[in-house]
Amino acid sequence: MQRKVGIEALAVAVPSRYVDIEDLARARNVDPAKFTSGLGAREMAVTDPGEDTVALAATAAARLIRQQGVDPSRVGMLVVGTETGIDHSKPVASHVQGLLKLPRTMRTYDTQHACYGGTAGLMAATEWLASGAGAGKVAIVVCADIARYGLNTAGEPTQGGGAVALLVSEQPDLLALDVGLNGTCTMDVYDFWRPIGRREAVVDGHYSISCYLEALSGAYRGWREKAVAAGLVRWSGSLPGEQLARIAYHVPFCKMARKAHTQLRLCDLEDAKDSKAGTPEAREELAKSAASYDAQVASSLGLNARIGNVYTASLYLALAGLLHGEGAKLANQRIGLLSYGSGCMAEFFSGVVGEKAAERMARADLDTVLARRERVPIEEYERLMKLGSDAPETKAPPPGAFRLTEIRDHKRLYAEGGAA
Ligand code: HMG
Repeated sequence: MQRKVGIEALAVAVPSRYVDIEDLARARNVDPAKFTSGLGAREMAVTDPGEDTVALAATAAARLIRQQGVDPSRVGMLVVGTETGIDHSKPVASHVQGLLKLPRTMRTYDTQHACYGGTAGLMAATEWLASGAGAGKVAIVVCADIARYGLNTAGEPTQGGGAVALLVSEQPDLLALDVGLNGTCTMDVYDFWRPIGRREAVVDGHYSISCYLEALSGAYRGWREKAVAAGLVRWSGSLPGEQLARIAYHVPFCKMARKAHTQLRLCDLEDAKDSKAGTPEAREELAKSAASYDAQVASSLGLNARIGNVYTASLYLALAGLLHGEGAKLANQRIGLLSYGSGCMAEFFSGVVGEKAAERMARADLDTVLARRERVPIEEYERLMKLGSDAPETKAPPPGAFRLTEIRDHKRLYAEGGAA
């Protein structure tokens, strides 16, 4: 019998500051409606150099262990998915191991493929457990990133930062994954990249959206073929995608989830043998269904709208937002997830929400995590953006959080704030 494997619990860490997206629009002489309804943003997380990727990853992992009562001696694998690491060689995961005093016997490494890196880590951990190689152990997968495009760029209102730590185990209280049914699609494209030495991403914005949608189509069709064969969804009654209770997408900005959902529906409508919508125009209209988006997608976007893009963590913020609001309602129901990383790689996978999802999410205390942040004016955001990444300001770490305090002889030193 196949082992039941998946996500047991999660924890979220966010930077201590944010800007209101309408303040940013006004400062850039842009109609605020472009950022709010055009992109779907409300707030944008702002980091300072002391809140680097290690600090955010360690804060999320420490919070996961504390909130969920994880026995550190059971952790056999720690993977950090990130595209904004702090060293070309030493992984973020090794810092987290040291800061949290996790077992020396475990496997640690980082995974990178733009925003897909976290999913690569989740799949490695899941397959490690499903194979039996990790029997008796649990894995921690941390997705941590700081999204930076720079001041006065088109990507600026889609910046953000943070981390989501996932506890992966054979007790998937949040989400039991349908192991082996994943659909994948990869293409060699230059849609978004960050050459060595650059802090800000280079992006071909509109092209990146079309790459995301094309890769989604390949990944979704791959998953659907396997899911139909396994009897999880059918071509009768309703469209296969409609049989998923919810779908969480990679969210570089919230409006992208709407475009993604339209594309997924279009795949089903184009491939349905007895399609009621015969013409391409009619299919396009049906694909855009607001009712379908409202029912299957909208409820996952609350955290993304208030934090912004967190690259590897964005899909898992959507999952967190979804289960934070609807964990009890979705118990025993199957949901779909779409991960996308530029470059590019997409993976569609699915899982069944656990009966203890609401209880696990209550322990993650997401309302408090967000409420502790400070809203800053645009001048302060711009000042922080101009600071060098190796110039942490002297500031006490908030309770329960890690901060970079100093770089000495090219070594990064961190401190943890007192009891949370
Ligand atoms: P832009 O070109 O300035 O914006 O930048 P736009 O002109 O396309 O407008 C955006 C939307 O606002 C449009 O809606 C406009 O109609 C609407 P749409 O037509 O798309 O539905 N709009 C308004 N709405 C209401 N009132 C108004 C108004 N004006 C316009 N007054 C762009 C947009 C996304 C290109 C830019 O923000 C960007 O470059 N972002 C970064 C790239 C990105 O997020 N790409 C997403 C796909 S790639 C991906 O997800 C991977 C990634 O996460 C990285 C990784 O993998 O590591 C990015």
